[in-house]
Amino acid sequence: MSSDQQVVSLCDAYKDYFPIGAAVSSRCIHTHRDLLLRHFCSVTATNEMKFSSIHPDEGSYQFVLADSIVEFAEANDMLIRGHTLVWHLQTPERVFINSDGASASRDLLLSRMRDHIETVVSRYKGRVYCWDVVNEAIDDKGSDYLRPSKWLQIIGPDYIEKAFEYAHAVDPDALLFYNDYNAVAPYKREKIMRLITELQQKGIPIHGIGLQGHWNIYWPSVDEIRYALDDYARLGLTIQITELDLSVFAYGDTRIDLTEPTSEMMELQAKRYEELFRLFREYKGVISGVTFWGIADDVTWLHNFPVRGRRDWPLLFDCEHQPKESFYRVARF
Ligand code: GLA
Repeated sequence: MSSDQQVVSLCDAYKDYFPIGAAVSSRCIHTHRDLLLRHFCSVTATNEMKFSSIHPDEGSYQFVLADSIVEFAEANDMLIRGHTLVWHLQTPERVFINSDGASASRDLLLSRMRDHIETVVSRYKGRVYCWDVVNEAIDDKGSDYLRPSKWLQIIGPDYIEKAFEYAHAVDPDALLFYNDYNAVAPYKREKIMRLITELQQKGIPIHGIGLQGHWNIYWPSVDEIRYALDDYARLGLTIQITELDLSVFAYGDTRIDLTEPTSEMMELQAKRYEELFRLFREYKGVISGVTFWGIADDVTWLHNFPVRGRRDWPLLFDCEHQPKESFYRVARF
């Protein structure tokens, strides 16, 4: 028996809690197949369902890569989280302009948004069980409420409610999420709470809140996450951790010289993962999924963010796809 076979499966360990997912690319489903099949029971497409990938040109949809992920998940009895329908990034510029090159009108942009949502959601209807309908609509600046995206500037604040309504009309059984980063930080939490409360008061079909979970080994504190879970739970929606990774670098640390993590970093990461999952288990009544933004440390967006070309080691499996101490602290409890 190889050492990997003796290792408990993450999904089995969490079967009484919530599904454990991973963000995958159409390439990773081959290169990381063994880990995926053994440890994960839910997938999110890293990029393949985003506007610019799936709908690069007007009237032209490219489903091949997204389909390959959906087919992989279905063949292996995995859940599929849809990500993401309306976002300010990875959306072609042409969406926001008319044929003269001037800014699109509100009506034109709304009809494009509707066409996009209807086409993508209907293709995966009954297969994708939840959608991140709107991603990152809240502004990071203290006093401002909504991010001044083209969606907001051209349509107005009701672009958010329209997106949820369009998605719900196509697939009334899909769970519809609002997803954002830094969602446990008090300054942003209050604004997300406001947004969701406003949507609920208007009767908009929203069912879940996605906390991305791009955190690091120093931040946020378990208490900060607990406060946020308590707050969001009061809204009566389900909560998912949708993009979990724990960078070994503190925010603002721009070192680029490390070729491997220090043992202190790995020990702190393991301790943090242990504390986080203890908290998540405690909140199993409100948390309906935890998805990592990646599978193993060889492929992570953090190799290029926030410092281009810097290595990071944020996940539970190392670059050789072996379980790290972080894995054991999450899987054995
Ligand atoms: C955000 C998005 C994700 C992904 C990550 C970085 O969190 O929601 O789709 O782009 O950034 O990889």
